[in-house]
Amino acid sequence: MKKLLTTTASVLAGLTISFNLLAGSNVQLDRANTDIRDQKSLQNGAQLFMDYCSGCHSISFMRYNRIAEDLFLDDIVEAYKQAKTNLLTNKPLSATDFQALSNAVDNSVKNIKQAKESLGKLSDSQIEKNLSKATDRMVEKNLVFNADKVGSPIISSMPKKGAEAWFGTTPPDLSLVARSKGTDWIYTYLRSFYKDDSRPFGVNNKVLTNVSMPDVLWHLKESKSTKDFNQDVRDITNFLDYVGEPAKLVRVDLGYKVLGFLFILFILSYLLKKEYWRDVKYGKWKAKD
Ligand code: HEC
Repeated sequence: MKKLLTTTASVLAGLTISFNLLAGSNVQLDRANTDIRDQKSLQNGAQLFMDYCSGCHSISFMRYNRIAEDLFLDDIVEAYKQAKTNLLTNKPLSATDFQALSNAVDNSVKNIKQAKESLGKLSDSQIEKNLSKATDRMVEKNLVFNADKVGSPIISSMPKKGAEAWFGTTPPDLSLVARSKGTDWIYTYLRSFYKDDSRPFGVNNKVLTNVSMPDVLWHLKESKSTKDFNQDVRDITNFLDYVGEPAKLVRVDLGYKVLGFLFILFILSYLLKKEYWRDVKYGKWKAKD
């Protein structure tokens, strides 16, 4: 039995070591410390991904309008609620408020009277629809750089043949990269390019040796403090983590609610237990034997 255990242990250890070697974990990975609930970080990550990565990489499992709904809709709804409160309490309306009200009625709103009239004609569900439409429009304007529509999957427009000629390989689809490589890997990889004149693009990478991707973030790195640059890379990594599993947003949120429920249930059960045991303690209750 003992021998069997030792053999199993050494086989497992051997496997772990070889998997680690395969995964190239001889490089110390930095902790990404991303937080999928941080919506500002995800928004910045989405913008940076579209600006710096989408020219080469697709994330074909993701559609633009899903990003709109998951990452930007909340802000648009929030702005509308604020504008509506200001409108109903007769506070002065800012340009942002007018924009938010225009979003809600799906028409350009120019004055208070018009805002009140237009809103009065719409049901809540119509307003919801309009706000979602406005979010799609915003995403189409800021994140879609090619002729794609907001309902399309996010596909890079780089021709496959060209990519192979330029890089020796096609840039991989990044839909699931956070799940296959992990966030720490991506975070470290993007910050590990170094100058190497023997390589076609003049750079190499500590995590992915002889990499065929250029250091696309070098300009960003030079124009910012290290702290801000690291935050930008963290945001891109966070965004890729979200792309790998969009349902995580719902799951994490649900997890907190379940824990909250269990906590309340714990208090109630404890009080109930005390109530039952009080009778036992004071001898009012005796088991029938
Ligand atoms: C100019 C084209 C180009 C751009 C722009 C680009 N990449 Fe790449 N990327 C590549 C190529 C080519 C590879 C394959 C590298 C290799 O295997 O040697 C790659 C590989 C990767 C990998 C490794 C994937 C894997 O599974 O091995 C990740 C992660 C990655 N890129 C992320 C990014 C991110 C994030 C951005 C934007 C900040 C970006 N890339 C911008 C061309 C590009």
